Amino acid sequence: MDLTKCIRVGSLFLTLTLWVSCSDIDLTKEPGHLKPFGTGGVNKPVEEMDGFPDPENFFENYVKPTKPLKMKGAARISKAMGKWRDEYFLSLDDDLDSEVKLETKKKENRLQAVDTMTFKNFVRIYNQTEHYMVDSVPPAIRGDITIPCPLQCKQLTEHNFVDNIMWFSSGGTKSVVHTDSVDNINCLYRGEKTLYFVDPSEHRHDVLIDHPDGTYSGMDVDAVDYTKYPGMAKVEFYHVNVSAGDCIYIPYLWVHQVRSYGSNLAVNVWWHRHAKDDLDYSACNRQCNTEYTMAQAKFMGLKTIQHDPIEVRDDFMTYISNDTNFEGFKQILFGDDYDKIVVDTTYVRAFTEMFEMLDADKNGLLSFTDFKTLDNEAWRTVGELLQLLMEDMEEDFEARNIDIDPDIDPDHGAAGDSDEMDLHDEL
Ligand SMILES: *[C@@H]1O[C@H](CO)[C@@H](O)[C@H](O)[C@H]1NC(C)=O
Ligand SMILES: *[C@@H]1O[C@H](CO)[C@@H](O)[C@H](O)[C@H]1NC(C)=O
Ligand SMILES: *[C@@H]1O[C@H](CO)[C@@H](O)[C@H](O)[C@H]1NC(C)=O
Repeated sequence: MDLTKCIRVGSLFLTLTLWVSCSDIDLTKEPGHLKPFGTGGVNKPVEEMDGFPDPENFFENYVKPTKPLKMKGAARISKAMGKWRDEYFLSLDDDLDSEVKLETKKKENRLQAVDTMTFKNFVRIYNQTEHYMVDSVPPAIRGDITIPCPLQCKQLTEHNFVDNIMWFSSGGTKSVVHTDSVDNINCLYRGEKTLYFVDPSEHRHDVLIDHPDGTYSGMDVDAVDYTKYPGMAKVEFYHVNVSAGDCIYIPYLWVHQVRSYGSNLAVNVWWHRHAKDDLDYSACNRQCNTEYTMAQAKFMGLKTIQHDPIEVRDDFMTYISNDTNFEGFKQILFGDDYDKIVVDTTYVRAFTEMFEMLDADKNGLLSFTDFKTLDNEAWRTVGELLQLLMEDMEEDFEARNIDIDPDIDPDHGAAGDSDEMDLHDEL
């Protein structure tokens, strides 16, 4: 995710194109202008079923075609469903002394301050504060969460689980609009959530993901400004509500925005998006085992995929069109900061070096053929250059006092490091 985060899906170039094609329409008159994300466009339903599908049905009909799915009542098989009350959390004494990471504002702002405190201290105060726990499930209570039935395959639980996150607050949280580079099942144990999705195969370039730090959009989710995000005027949404006891599958690359209502507690599992490619269903549990819990799974951690050269390559293949020239690549990479970059800086030099590396046949164009020629070592270097470049750019912007997050609440605290930022993802 660290690597995806540096590549901006929507380029300034695309914005200009859209402007030209929409120039005869007054976007400020469109129904969703300055309204919450999800308002204005068509709302389509997300497919639903009762309980979990089996692994083959799930992977063949939802994961491979990348279709979201609501699984009603599926979370009820976990002990957590009845057991996870605050009195229970407060009665635990072992293993809960380690600190958990907390967001400090319910309206997500990736530049907000991150707090830490012990899990039990968080439980004591969260009803009175804005604190939002976004961190792995404390090990002492992982045994209360059954591994979602369609994921009960050793190939997944031992080699492809990336991370789990507990999303815990008194409700009223609003995530930014973003995408993830992993597949995701999120189960809700308390409260309600509402999600809006945008299918990337229909509208990838209409939702401008203009932030390098975390593949997210800087748009204000409470008031989407169509003059800044003109593509939003034609977006169609998928809309779904989930309640305590339900689970939702959020496919890799689907744009999503999440709000929570009422005391809220959810746990999700992220798994490697390539796991689907060679999954052997005969090695999965045929009968779902409710005693097979998160305590028995191995999570490789987000860092491992952030530094995986295959991930870097996939990200480039996703976000960059075939035969992109130097200028086009610059516009994609720097997105809405394009007009603020300074030519003779370390990051622009790193950028030039990266372009030369990616242009394997040296014809001045980045093509998928070039990308296929490069070996893992080259992609590793590209990933490192990308990270350095973004860090240098942020430093330069900070030194010049340029606000890199103009649309989001400017009242922000200290930025966490980039790895922490990935954990700020809602879902
Ligand atoms: C917080 O609020 C919820 C919902 O009202 C309640 O169930 C819970 O017990 C409260 N927790 C604490 C520690 O007061
Ligand atoms: C979600 O819930 C809201 C509030 O109850 C309701 O207005 C909306 O129609 C629901 N959406 C779906 C897709 O069920
Ligand atoms: C990409 O462009 C090259 C020409 O530079 C062409 O040969 C190739 O077929 C194109 N690939 C795709 C997937 O469009």
